[in-house]
Amino acid sequence: MQLFRTKPIEALVEEHERHGQSLKRVLGAGDLIMLAIGAVIGAGIFGAIGTAAAGQIGPDGVVVRYGAGPALVFSFLLLGGACALAALCYAELASMIPQAGSAYAYTYATLGELIAWIIGWDLILEYAVGNVAVAISWGDYFETLMRGIGVNFPEWLTTGYRTAALSSDPAVHGLIDTAPRLLGVPILVNIPAFAIVMAVTWLLLRGAKESSRANNIMVVIKLVALALFIGVGMTAINGANYVPFAPNGFTGIHQGAAIVFFAYIGFDAISTAAEETKNPQRNLPIGILGGLAICTLIYVVVGAVLTGMVPYTDLAVADPLAHALERAGYSGVGMIVALGAAVSMTAVLLVFQYGQPRIYFAMARDGLLPQWAAKLDPKLRIPYRTTLLTGIVVALASAFGDAAETYDLTNIGTLFAFALVCGGVLILRVREPARPRPFKVPLVWVLAPLGIAACVFVMIGLPWPAWERFMIWLAAGVVLYFAYGYRHSKLRQP
Ligand code: ALA
Repeated sequence: MQLFRTKPIEALVEEHERHGQSLKRVLGAGDLIMLAIGAVIGAGIFGAIGTAAAGQIGPDGVVVRYGAGPALVFSFLLLGGACALAALCYAELASMIPQAGSAYAYTYATLGELIAWIIGWDLILEYAVGNVAVAISWGDYFETLMRGIGVNFPEWLTTGYRTAALSSDPAVHGLIDTAPRLLGVPILVNIPAFAIVMAVTWLLLRGAKESSRANNIMVVIKLVALALFIGVGMTAINGANYVPFAPNGFTGIHQGAAIVFFAYIGFDAISTAAEETKNPQRNLPIGILGGLAICTLIYVVVGAVLTGMVPYTDLAVADPLAHALERAGYSGVGMIVALGAAVSMTAVLLVFQYGQPRIYFAMARDGLLPQWAAKLDPKLRIPYRTTLLTGIVVALASAFGDAAETYDLTNIGTLFAFALVCGGVLILRVREPARPRPFKVPLVWVLAPLGIAACVFVMIGLPWPAWERFMIWLAAGVVLYFAYGYRHSKLRQP
């Protein structure tokens, strides 16, 4: 039973106060909406959307996943609903447990240490592995931009080994045979993806942090890029592209949703602003649901325009938005959108690369990770070791990895965390019914179970290899816990 010991919420709150005074309530619903858009719009809508619409074929000609086709708009609506349910549950826990560490901290207080450790370990999939996918997508748009100004890199310097190995395109798959070799091994490295992660890491090590002004500028750039895409793309819609509307029926909508779920990741991060929110009971749901509704609306419109511009089968490319504009004869606009995409994704990289070391920090402070991970730079007060380590590992994985494979692993891990957060809300309602809840999920006994079901349902749409890797990841986490965290946990020491 010791494994399920929970960390008392009082301890979490006290710790919080010891480490910094309680925060000032300054954020309104509008600020939360801006934060949500800043963290959410990135590689999902600029990159993963192509695979979600077109589907994916493996190098052996076997279907890896079916595409949604123009019915992608239904995938977006389905995801908007599923995320709204999880978001409400995040908001309730975040307003009760105002502490950094997000789902990890909530789970420690509700489901106990073992599950908390698993969630912390699982969040590596959302943050670090997620950033591998964002970096690869960033590299693709960077390449488009460079091509636009006449700079062409050799393909073996912009394509990771896994991307070549998994591609059904003979030109890309063939790189394995044609790339230069070192000791017989083909050299296939995505240098742009590697470089952007190292650049972001360098910024973070200099003490850069999320600031609401920088965020607001990013949000404007994202919205202008997508508005430009929608405005110009609408003039190039050909009704014939909408037929057939749902080429793979519900299977396509479901499997498309499972990969483009990536586009929604990040709104959970804004629940951590609960303690800084004025009148949370009113503003948290408006901010979170409002942000999600706006993103869902933008995604539905982008999806509808994109699948109207070109046949959905042509969207199996790394830079679908720029590609569609180029095909429609608007190469110049395509370049501007590509630039907006690269900027948007840089912002997402910063947010997640900033978040990952702070989750390690929270876990190390609880004794579940070695103490060196909790070391702060004395002057800048940032967890510099884990910032650097995360940067190097993510950069290397981006240099060799494949985007679709990493989207899948990130999505399955994040959906699992969402489901556990929904469960945590119910458990706490039973265990501590009287505890003050600045924000309460309405109809919790309906909405939280529905949230769990929706997350599991989207997970089921992911290909089998993602499940296999996810189970291996979790099993490795459990082994690590018993090898280290179990013995060093501070909660367990007298
Ligand atoms: N939702 C974020 C993106 O699409 C992670 O890049």
